[in-house]
Amino acid sequence: MSKSAELAQLIRDRAGAAPVSHGLILGSGLGHIAGEVDGVAINYADLPGFPHAAVSGHNPVLAVGMLEGVRVAVFGGRSHYYESGHAGAMRLPLEVLKALGADRLIVTNAAGSMDAVNPPGAVMLLSDHINFSGLNPLIGERTDARFVPMTDAHDARMRAALRAAATAEGIDAGEGVYAWYSGPSFETPAEIRAIRALGADAVGMSTVPEVILARFLGLRVAAISVITNMAAGMSDEKISHEHTKSMAPIGAAKLERILRRYLRDLD
Ligand code: HPA
Repeated sequence: MSKSAELAQLIRDRAGAAPVSHGLILGSGLGHIAGEVDGVAINYADLPGFPHAAVSGHNPVLAVGMLEGVRVAVFGGRSHYYESGHAGAMRLPLEVLKALGADRLIVTNAAGSMDAVNPPGAVMLLSDHINFSGLNPLIGERTDARFVPMTDAHDARMRAALRAAATAEGIDAGEGVYAWYSGPSFETPAEIRAIRALGADAVGMSTVPEVILARFLGLRVAAISVITNMAAGMSDEKISHEHTKSMAPIGAAKLERILRRYLRDLD
């Protein structure tokens, strides 16, 4: 049995055999949503091969159960490239998600904004992304499946449903392009000017490898940024992880309403 099939069995033994519909990856300061799933939470440490996901502000549990009437698997934390130097760190968790039956994934993150229409506290739906790091989680994959088309990577139907959920909640969600910067240092103002000129609206240290992996696995995927700061050089505010964590709850409250509404209104 493959490692992902074994882990999926272990999870089904604890959380029940009903297939999961959606996976959800929670970004910095958003991990508490895992605690709201009506089901079973399993520590990553009890799932052999799962990443450590030891960044403060994350909650390294996999919660499997019901949220707004939908069976979900919620990843309370992620492993970033900058923790291990391994862009494919989330591959096993996403393979397990697929093995649990999911066909859709929603990825969330905290991000810096390059566009004044999405100020700190705003929520931005990703229309597309730029892999500014040049890294790829599929480097080393040997099958032809590695040549993943990325033209429609960010699922238009899921995004439309998330937008409808935001509107129904009275939340004005932005939409834009997210650039992946490896981190863990933040960007310089010159780097921000560069990625802005390239067409990015927000910047962060995650999400892109997970979107690539999701498409590789045949999952439909949508991603949402919670804007915690204006990107480097765009305001006088000091950029720090502490600031990210302190600002995340403002957007997180909106994000949670959007996600709950999206799940409740699923056909
Ligand atoms: N840059 C990169 N990642 C981030 C930022 C940022 O400004 N804010 C939150 N995550």
